[in-house]
Amino acid sequence: MAEKFRVGITRDILDSRGEPSFGQAALKILDDAPGVEWEFLPALAREITPEHAARYDAVYVNMARTPGTAVGRADCRLRVVARHGVGYDSVDLPAMTRAGIVVTNTPMAMPRPVATIALTFILALAGKLVLKDRLTRTGRWDERMDNMGMGLTGRTLGVVGAGRIGKELLRMARVFDLKLLAADPYVNAVELSYIGARKVDLATLLRESDFVVTIPLLNDETRHLISTPQFALMKPSAYFINVSRGPVVDEPALIAALKAGRIAGAALDVFEQEPADPANALLAMENVIVTPHSLCWTDECFHNMASTGLRSIVDVASGRKPEFVVNADVLAHPRVRAWLAP
Ligand SMILES: NC(=O)c1ccc[n+]([C@@H]2O[C@H](COP(=O)([O-])OP(=O)(O)OC[C@H]3O[C@@H](n4cnc5c(N)ncnc54)[C@H](O)[C@@H]3O)[C@@H](O)[C@H]2O)c1
Repeated sequence: MAEKFRVGITRDILDSRGEPSFGQAALKILDDAPGVEWEFLPALAREITPEHAARYDAVYVNMARTPGTAVGRADCRLRVVARHGVGYDSVDLPAMTRAGIVVTNTPMAMPRPVATIALTFILALAGKLVLKDRLTRTGRWDERMDNMGMGLTGRTLGVVGAGRIGKELLRMARVFDLKLLAADPYVNAVELSYIGARKVDLATLLRESDFVVTIPLLNDETRHLISTPQFALMKPSAYFINVSRGPVVDEPALIAALKAGRIAGAALDVFEQEPADPANALLAMENVIVTPHSLCWTDECFHNMASTGLRSIVDVASGRKPEFVVNADVLAHPRVRAWLAP
């Protein structure tokens, strides 16, 4: 009998009751796939190891890292690393490509949920929602006159990184009659104009925006894309929002800008160090809203991610190219050509 295609799902996707956080429905995709067997990894793992790579043909990974060292051994049977999410900075992509391992992600499940959290932050900052919650709870009712919100009509939203999520945010923001700017060297101005946004360079966006949202891919070019000189360009009344990856922003520079009143406030779903250090100065600031890299986690978002990710594993098990391959070069690798149907 042919050997089964073995799938390992990292345990960091389980909730505190040990149930998959994406619900049970998506697992049916694996249950129904002929020749596929699956399990959650025997133990919680911070990273995929050579032992995992020798045990599984596919791993479905949430937070666990996939370093190059995982796939260096001769007994490595891994064919696909499927990421539960869009970002793949936790996977050593060049090493996977060299080893002939396909890396997939779930980009289409994310634009609406992540654009929604950016809007949530914009609305919460504009209305001083978290601060006013605090005033109400702590006997500071009388301070409300000193805490006017910012009306959105005619104000300017600048989106840094107009990829799938950035464009969805721009589309969703139109109902608020915001002026829309986008800075993304790789996106066409005409395409942006169709959704009502003007393509500008980063400096112009920073100077003109009342809300700056960063949502580019994290890579060498975007690491610390926003630092002291960029905060210096922003209006003192403007808010800064990061929902992409922590290292896109130079955090000490952000802290300095907030302390100096260079900007009015910030909202962050992501941090340079995660989990965020409880001593991080940002956590003590009243004009900063923080969430633990999970504001977009909803039943809808997780089900859609898991359905896409687990389907990509079944595709590989069936010799098909998955829909969302991050390292397209790998498709020419002899190891992939050996299982990929022509
Ligand atoms: N907070 C969360 O939970 C969460 C969830 C999903 C995704 N994300 C992050 O969002 C990022 C974007 O996701 P996406 O689906 O829109 O990806 P995408 O690949 O569709 O878009 C990324 C955009 O970044 C742009 N970019 C690259 N270099 C740039 C630069 N120097 N300046 C400005 N823009 C630049 C690209 O041109 C592209 O348009 C992901 O890489 C991920 O890190 C965060």
